[in-house]
Parts: sequence; C-alpha cells; structure tokens
Amino acid sequence: MHSVLFLSFLSSATAAAVDRRTAVPAGYVAAPYYPAPHGGWVSSWSESYRKASLLVSNMTLAEKTNLTSGTGLFMGRCVGNTGSALRAGIPSLCLQDGPLGVRNTEQNTAFPAGITVGATWDKSLMLARGVALGEEFRGKGINVHLGPSVGALGRKPRGGRNWEGFGADPVLQAFGGALTIEGVQSVGVIATIKHLIANEQEQFRMYSIVQPGISSNVDDRTLHELYLWPFAEGVRSGVGSVMIAYNAVNGSACSQNSYLINNILKDELGFQGFVMSDWLAQISGVGSALAGLDMNMPGDIHTVPLVTGESHWMYEYSRSILNGTVPVDRLDDSVTRILAAWFQMGQDQNYPPPNFDANTLDAEGPLYPGSLVSPRGIVNQFVNVQGNHAEVAREIARDAITLLKNTDGFLPLSQNATLKIFGTAAEKNPDGINSCADQGCNKGTLGMGWGSGSARYPYMNSPIDGFKARSAPYTYFNRDNFPSNSNPSPSDTAIVFVTSDSGENYITVMSNPGDRTTGGLNVWYGGDKLIKDVANAYQNVVVVVQTVGQIIMEEWIDLPSVKAVLFAHLPGQEAGDSLMEILYGDVSPSGHLPYTIPTSEDNYPASVGLRGFEIGQPQDTFTEGLYIDYRHFHKAGIKPRYAFGHGLSYTNFSYSAATITRVTPLTSVPPARPAKGTTPEYSTEIPPASEAYWPEGFNRVGLRYKYSFLEKNDADNAAKDATSSKKYPYPTGYSGEQKAEGPPSGGAQGGNPALFDTAYDISVTVTNTGSRPGKAVAQLYVQFPSGISFDTPIIQLRDFEKTDELAAGQSQTLKLRVTRKDLSVWDVVSQNWIVPNVDGDYGIWIGESSDKLELRCGTATGSCATDVESPV
Ligand SMILES: *[C@@H]1O[C@H](CO)[C@@H](O)[C@H](O)[C@H]1NC(C)=O
Ligand SMILES: *[C@@H]1O[C@H](CO)[C@@H](O)[C@H](O)[C@H]1NC(C)=O
Ligand SMILES: *[C@@H]1O[C@H](CO)[C@@H](O)[C@H](O)[C@H]1NC(C)=O
Ligand SMILES: *[C@@H]1O[C@H](CO)[C@@H](O)[C@H](O)[C@H]1NC(C)=O
Ligand SMILES: *[C@@H]1O[C@H](CO)[C@@H](O)[C@H](O)[C@H]1NC(C)=O
Ligand SMILES: *[C@@H]1O[C@H](CO)[C@@H](O)[C@H](O)[C@H]1NC(C)=O
Repeated sequence: MHSVLFLSFLSSATAAAVDRRTAVPAGYVAAPYYPAPHGGWVSSWSESYRKASLLVSNMTLAEKTNLTSGTGLFMGRCVGNTGSALRAGIPSLCLQDGPLGVRNTEQNTAFPAGITVGATWDKSLMLARGVALGEEFRGKGINVHLGPSVGALGRKPRGGRNWEGFGADPVLQAFGGALTIEGVQSVGVIATIKHLIANEQEQFRMYSIVQPGISSNVDDRTLHELYLWPFAEGVRSGVGSVMIAYNAVNGSACSQNSYLINNILKDELGFQGFVMSDWLAQISGVGSALAGLDMNMPGDIHTVPLVTGESHWMYEYSRSILNGTVPVDRLDDSVTRILAAWFQMGQDQNYPPPNFDANTLDAEGPLYPGSLVSPRGIVNQFVNVQGNHAEVAREIARDAITLLKNTDGFLPLSQNATLKIFGTAAEKNPDGINSCADQGCNKGTLGMGWGSGSARYPYMNSPIDGFKARSAPYTYFNRDNFPSNSNPSPSDTAIVFVTSDSGENYITVMSNPGDRTTGGLNVWYGGDKLIKDVANAYQNVVVVVQTVGQIIMEEWIDLPSVKAVLFAHLPGQEAGDSLMEILYGDVSPSGHLPYTIPTSEDNYPASVGLRGFEIGQPQDTFTEGLYIDYRHFHKAGIKPRYAFGHGLSYTNFSYSAATITRVTPLTSVPPARPAKGTTPEYSTEIPPASEAYWPEGFNRVGLRYKYSFLEKNDADNAAKDATSSKKYPYPTGYSGEQKAEGPPSGGAQGGNPALFDTAYDISVTVTNTGSRPGKAVAQLYVQFPSGISFDTPIIQLRDFEKTDELAAGQSQTLKLRVTRKDLSVWDVVSQNWIVPNVDGDYGIWIGESSDKLELRCGTATGSCATDVESPV
C-alpha cells in the first residue's frame, strides 16, 4: 500500500483505458479459473463458518455489500474502514498498517523492521514480536493488522520495500511471516499476509490512466518454489487475510487475476480467510468479484479517489447482484469469509473499538476527514499500548546485529576505549524523530524505511544516547564529511555510522522513488568517502551500517584500518543500547545476513535490475527463474563479498554429532489429498430490490462516503435487467459451478497436508569452543541428488535453529527437520510437488552460513560426516 493522492489529479479515466495489456512475452499466460471456490471446507474453520453463514443468511443485500468494501479514503479513523452491518452486530472493521508497528499513532512501539527480524534467525523472537505487535494492534482497537509482508521477496537488491520482509530466501521469509501471523493472531487480531504476488519493485507498480501496472511474468515452477512458498506457510498458519499486490502477473492485474486468487490461493493453498485489494489496486467491479476478490480497499476507484463517492463495489456491487451478473453465492462467500475470520479470531467477544485516529494526533477532529463536511468528535483517546515491548524490540535489534568483519578480534571494545564518532546516523534526526511523514526522509539514526510500512517513534534511543548511558569517553562529529579538527591519536577508536534507505513509491527521498534508483547500493551522503577519510586518519576503525539491504563496500572493506564492520539493519526505536551491548561485548553478536552482499552490481543477472519506463505495460520477466540471491551466486560461481547467512561472533562454535532419522518414507508423488469438507449452502435467488433501497430519511455522512444503497429506481431497473435479454460478457472460461474436487496439490491450508510431513529429523550438537558466551545459528541447506531431471539450485535453505546463549565450552543439541515439500520440486506438468528421486542421496548440509557448511547428512546413507567437500 498505498495512499497515492496524486493519482486523484489524473481523474476522469475509465477502467477500460487501463485494462489494455501489451506485450506480455510469448509463453506467459493468465489463464481463466472460475468460479471462486467457497470457503469453509477446512475443519479448523468449520465452527467460524457455521456462525458466519448463519449471520449472512439473515443479512440484507446492502448489509452484505457494505462489509466487502471500505467507505473511502480518509473516511474513518483507520487507513481502511469497512461499512458495517449493525443490525447483525457487525461494526465497521478497522484495518491498519503496518508490519513493524501501529502506523500514524502514538504510545506505540516502533519495532525493528522485518529485515532485522530475519537477521536474528531466531524463531522465538519472530513469534514474540508477533505477539507484541498483536497486543498493540488490539490495544488500539484494530481488527485487521496489515502485515506481515513476505512479498517483495527481495529478488531485486534495489527494490524499495525488501526491508519490510524477512530476507531474500523463501524459507527465511516463510518462518518470519508464519511466526508473525501466529503471534499476531494469538491475541485475536486478524493478520494480513501481503503482497500477493511477485511485487518486487516500487516504480510502475500501480495501474493509472497513463499506464497499466508492471507485469511480473513468472513461470509456474519459480512461482511455487520461490514467491508462493512464504504465502503457503502463512496460509498454513491460519492467516485470516491476504492482500493482493498492485502489479500484474502474466499481464493480468493481481486484483482480478482469477488464476492467482481462485486457483492458486483459494483452491490449491486452501485459503479460508478473505482477500483484500491493496489500496486502490482494484480496477474493476464485476471482474474482480468473479476473480475471487473479497474486500475492496479503501473503497474508492483508483483513478478518482478524492473526487466523488464513486466505487467499483458498494452500491455497484448491490447493482451487479440485482441485475443477475454476479451470482449471489459469490457475494455470500466473500461476506462469510470476512465474518469467519472475525469469528475465528474471537472478535465477536469483547473486541475493543478503535481508540486512535490515523489521520490526526489531536484529541478531537473530523470523524470522516475525507468528507467536505464531517461531524467532529473525540478521535484519540491516547491509549498506551507499549507494555514491556521495548524489551523484545531491543532484544531483536541486538540479536540481529551482524558482525561481518572483525580483524584480530578487534571488537568488543574495552570500556575505556577513547572514541571518535563520525556520521549523522549516530544521533537522532535534529528536526525531530517524526518530522517526516511516514519517515519519508533519511536524517539521523535510520531505524526503518519509509512509507506505509513505517510507524512513528515513541522515542529514539540513538547510538549517541547509548554511548552517553555508558559514560563512554567519546567525541562526536555530527556530520557526514570528515572534519579537519578531529585530532586523531593512535590510541583512538573511530566509529563511523552510515546508512542506506528505501521505501514506498508514493514518497521520493533524495531522488529515490521508493526503489534505490539514485542511491543505488552505495551508502548515502558520501558515506564511502567518509569511511575512507576516517580510515586514512585513524588506525582502528569500526563501521556501523543502518540499512534496508545490501550495500557495496568494496571501496573500504579491505582497508587495513577498517577493523570491524557491523550491520545494525533497521533497528527501530532501540538502536542505541542494542548496539552498545554488542560493541562492548555484553553479548556476542549473533545476527546473520538475510541476503548476499555482492562485490558489484554486475554480480547479478540483468533481469533483477529495476525496470524503467515503458510505453504501455512495463514487462518484468523473471528469466533468472529460481536463481536469485545465493542461488544465483552459486550457479554462476561468483564469490560474493559476504555470503547469505554470514555472521561472525566473539566466540567460535563447532558443529558435531549430527544424526539423521527417517520419519515419513518418501514417495515420488505425495499421498492423495483429503477430500474437501463441506461448505455453507448459499441461496442462488436474487434478493428483492428493496434490500438495496436507501432507507427513508437516511442521514448521509457526505458525498464521498461510500454506501451500498441504490436509489429505488436504479435498484428496480437493475432487477429488471436480471430478467431481460441483457447479457454480461463473462470472461472466457467463466463458470459459476463449484468444482467438487480441488487440485491434487491442495487439501488443507497451505496445500496437501502430506507435503508438510517430516521426511527426516536431523539433530546437531553445537559447542561453544571459544572463550566468550554466544549464540550460534545452525542453517540447514538441501542439495538435491545428482542426476535428476530437474535443474535445481545447488543448495537451498530449508530450516534453521538458533541456540540459547552458550557459555564457553557449553553445548546444545538442536533439532531440525526437512519435510516432503522441502525435498520436492514443483512439477508443472502434473501440477504437483514430486520427489525427483526417492532413493537418491539428498545432501542435508548444516553450517553457520551458506559458505561455511560444516557437515553433511545423507538421506540414502542415513549418516552424517564432517569431512565432506562443500558443494559451494
Ligand atoms: C504465467 O505463465 C506461465 C507460463 O505460461 C504459467 O506457467 C504460469 O502458471 C502463469 N502464472 C499465472 C499466475 O498465471
Ligand atoms: C436471524 O433472524 C431471525 C429473525 O429475525 C432471528 O430470530 C435469528 O436469531 C437471526 N439469526 C442470526 C444468526 O442472527
Ligand atoms: C453501511 O455502513 C455504514 C457505515 O457504518 C452505515 O452507515 C450504513 O448504515 C451501513 N449500511 C447498512 C445497510 O447497514
Ligand atoms: C450489472 O451491474 C454491473 C455493475 O454496475 C455492471 O457492471 C454490469 O454490466 C451489469 N450487468 C448487466 C447485464 O447490465
Ligand atoms: C583500559 O583499561 C585497561 C585496564 O583497565 C588498560 O589495560 C588499557 O590500557 C586501557 N585502555 C585505554 C585505551 O586507556
Ligand atoms: C575462531 O577460530 C578461528 C580459526 O580457528 C581463529 O582464528 C579465531 O581466533 C577464533 N576466534 C575466537 C573468537 O575464538
């Protein structure tokens, strides 16, 4: 998302003008898939569907269409506000950003960003942050949390929103997303996994009157093995909502791509919740309904959001039901999905209403700021939802810090080390920590990227705050060029702070329109030169990087005086003390890179560069297939600067005594899926037109506020159309007949449950062989057997575990596992996950990094060995 106000100036376009598709490369097809499968067939949702469908059977047409749509941009306290059905006891639902905290409010926590969470490689912290996030969203009265983000996956190093997700690997991303969902939903908040799918760059993402949104052209196997993987795990964890991306896939806008929503998401992945559009991503009414969209956000038409009260749905949805175009069961299924998610999270029991207003921090304000005339009232009750969440935020910020280089054990610092500190990123933004709306600037300590995925800081504990709190002897030069008066001494330690920022497309920062166009992969504000100048004057230099992603560090990384380099990623509000704990060695660093650091952008295939302007629909063809990030570096034989998963410690670890145990025997094709359970019965009868009439004397909020009612005449005429000879031009391949069977790859949330059977349990003992306490990560990579007929990346991450803090000499045995799916490839012909060689010897590699594989367990031999040559 979202909030593309400037688009409103491009008004008066018709949807038809933007529907045109151009130049999708040969072979990429957006096939029709109809109808939208009814939800409710998964047993863990049965009770919620029972309650929801009872309610729906009692609701009027206008009540039902009211719940499927937002009431308009800025038409309520939250970034998204649905219509209500108060007679049935359903309030207007509040949907609110974002993935790292409650956006645009106060007394919230600004948690570390997703990429920072990924860098911890710590499943328990992923879950704990999810719980804390859920508590804050619930505390503010929010029904639907608009996170986590697992797409962008991070295919493009310059992509603007990679930092909102957990790293450039589907499995790391999947654990980050699924554990966040489990945490958020454990306290009754509906989580939203987003953005489905292949939403890998910011520029040209949206449909406008000038241009259709960018088309991500992805082959089926790549979609399944990379981009869909984290969504599958999110659905498996029971996520209540999925947000559709702005872009197209294979030329068809995701918000009306029937193959994507009806087939892949609802049939194959068995998604039981509801599908919402990204903000203004809906570009048709009937088309998107038939294609499986369940909720339109924020309710407006993408080209005319601020002008009138027009909507693709609301009253138009009522009309399209009355005139017989959209079948009643499609609407009923959507509303049932929305209410089932609401019941599933227990929101029918004492759920608090919103007590904040994302549009203002004043106590009082307009209730509908998007309306020209709006009643006013108390909109902010200033509820503090922080609890003790600063602790988990600090723990994540600390355990994410990734030590990339540490010559001769230069770090940790001694308490009395004399410090010269350089770079504006060491201290808070002098204009105020929240001076830029949605953090749309990069000034001072960089705790998060910009856009809808940001939150206001309640405070910023900066690195300088941290040094002060330690009474460290330091001199700070709050500038980004090298001062002439720093008076270097050989006993000084110099610490340089640098940043690289990115964000969402609706804000441009220093000529970067979301994506890192101008900044590229270099640190900002001449940081490379600052580091070189400091390294020239000082003998001992530590570089601290606050960054959204990969940077290129070749100009200075090998300088002998650059002794240590730390990535703090995007630490959130707890930037300072978390860093101090690492710098001074209270704890050993235990973060690991959630992506590969290249030596040059030439390391990458051209296809993962940003796409620029094109006449017509920009085409972004994923020709690199499975080969993104480390998968590419391995295949191309390119040695990166730092490998995926790299991260040093102040101590050392050994990996030993590994075992591998067969659990579920493999078969080349998974066991048959379970049959679909029953779904609610819906009437096919068109409701009476009177169910959509404006109630007499109804008091409208204002012209722009969207309602589901029709004028009596319009409703009656629509009802006449239903029996006339007027025919709607349904898309090719359209059918309203529910398919009795789902695809063989489906069967439960996330797919065929047999895919998630554990094939092998692996255990490994990690021993701290150094002299300081520390935590280690065991990363498990799978190498497919040789000689199979599928080209597969050399190694692929499939699981990981982090140890507790181990004292010197202490050991811990970690348990890992690989599932059937982990050992399968997506076969496009049979449309199923198949094990390419059941008896083949899979290499199960365990290491502390993708380039430091310590041992190999073989599935055929059933044994593990430490002295095997690494395949990469
Ligand atoms: C995109 O096109 C490819 C190639 O025809 C096809 O395999 C894939 O299923 C399509 N994906 C979607 C989401 O339509
Ligand atoms: C449906 O409406 C009937 C009649 O108004 C009422 O008795 C019943 O309790 C309602 N059921 C639900 C589930 O709201
Ligand atoms: C739709 O929601 C709005 C806002 O809550 C409300 O004013 C209106 O009465 C609702 N319509 C119906 C049919 O309940
Ligand atoms: C029914 O109404 C919808 C919404 O306005 C419209 O798109 C569709 O063309 C109408 N169908 C017919 C047959 O007129
Ligand atoms: C710091 O203190 C230790 C002993 O407490 C001493 O050995 C060391 O030389 C001191 N370092 C500096 C930079 O003053
Ligand atoms: C870890 O082991 C390496 C190689 O054996 C050694 O060079 C290094 O000093 C050790 N580091 C620590 C902190 O013990």
